[in-house]
Amino acid sequence: MNQAIAKLYQQHLDGLRSYVDRALERCGFERLLIASGNPRMHFLDDQGPAFVSSPHFLHWLPLTQAPGSWIDYRPGTTPRLIFLQPRDYWHLTPQSPQGYWVDAFDIVTVDTVAAAQQIIGTLSDTTAIIGEPGSTSPLTSNNPEQLLNQLHWNRASKSAYEQLLMRAASRIGVAGHRAAASAFQSGASEFEIHLAFLTATRLSEVELPYPNIIGLNEHGAVLHYTGLERQAPTERRSFLIDAGGCYAGYASDITRTYASDPNGPFAELIADMERMQQELCTAVQPGGPYPDLHTKCHRQLGDILTKQQLVNCSGEAAYEQGITRSFFPHGLGHLLGLQVHDIGGHQAGPDGDKVEPPEQHPFLRLTRTLETDMVVTIEPGLYFIDQLLEPLAASPAGNDVNWERVEFFKPFGGIRIEDDVLCTQGAAVNLTREAWDAIAMV
Ligand code: GLY
Ligand code: MN
Ligand code: MN
Repeated sequence: MNQAIAKLYQQHLDGLRSYVDRALERCGFERLLIASGNPRMHFLDDQGPAFVSSPHFLHWLPLTQAPGSWIDYRPGTTPRLIFLQPRDYWHLTPQSPQGYWVDAFDIVTVDTVAAAQQIIGTLSDTTAIIGEPGSTSPLTSNNPEQLLNQLHWNRASKSAYEQLLMRAASRIGVAGHRAAASAFQSGASEFEIHLAFLTATRLSEVELPYPNIIGLNEHGAVLHYTGLERQAPTERRSFLIDAGGCYAGYASDITRTYASDPNGPFAELIADMERMQQELCTAVQPGGPYPDLHTKCHRQLGDILTKQQLVNCSGEAAYEQGITRSFFPHGLGHLLGLQVHDIGGHQAGPDGDKVEPPEQHPFLRLTRTLETDMVVTIEPGLYFIDQLLEPLAASPAGNDVNWERVEFFKPFGGIRIEDDVLCTQGAAVNLTREAWDAIAMV
């Protein structure tokens, strides 16, 4: 395994380097410095959020906890890692680099920021410095926009090495989901389900790729609900969990919705949504514009609304009148990788032109055409959200809605089903289902 990953890593780095070489040349730079970043503090406080490394840094190596370190790269030379290992008895200092990737770097360990600065030496105006503004001491980042656009564009395509890490992130997330589902079945509160997820993933809360969304009953209708009620509700109707794993900085992003009554109407609605979601996952094919999938989803959702008697009109009429947008207000999905909503989803090309989402679908995070080796999420939803249903009721289209049926479903909150899908030349690879099946076999 170690040899296999070392080889994949080397291929990843070779590919990244040759892309970066071309990008630097195009943008007129001779040297690239990438900061891992520094911990931030809360306002007027000596406490702060957990350190999260820059994704630019993590694209080169899997060193997630090395604040104050730098990658220093000049095309044609071995990349250098300036690794900060302070002599600090207040905090855990980062462990010396080890593993399959270290031979690819010329590693210089320093114990102070000043020493790092000395190693970095003189900067010229052909040095690109990438890092979060205000978080790159001792240097000031310049984040050249043209170069960033090129690098962000490239991030969408995942090397075989990255795919391996994302498969690991999927398995971790799925382990958490399985534990969460059994916690729900045994009557746990949202908070207890959250703890079950953490225990199974062996991730601490700050290591999660995004805060767990764990909603019972009506809470499923709050898209990014993070309330974590300590008390279990007396009546348990439904459970929506959107939670992921993380491995070497790479995320999985997984959502499941469950009905307490496996034979009731809400379970039936979930089944319809899942059939549609699975069909959309298989439609992840190179050459297809992602917004087309989003539109296809809305049309099919219209049919589900008709079938489930939530509307009294045809699915097509529900779509045409915008009714589906009141039930499904977010985008079908997004790029996934080192960031949950991986950057570059609206880029038209590597040079910075953008394809904005359609006016009626402003929250669509991905407007690019699908390409081999992209990993995207497919996450259709159907929710009963008062803030969206009230204006619908007041509009002419509201006459086509079966409000009694809507009221019936409101106490169940909503449905979202989300898988992470790798686009290939052949059939789409559903990383989430693959991990789910693999864990089921153990
Ligand atoms: N977990 C956030 C999302 O699904 O986009
Ligand atoms: Mn997502
Ligand atoms: Mn999600």
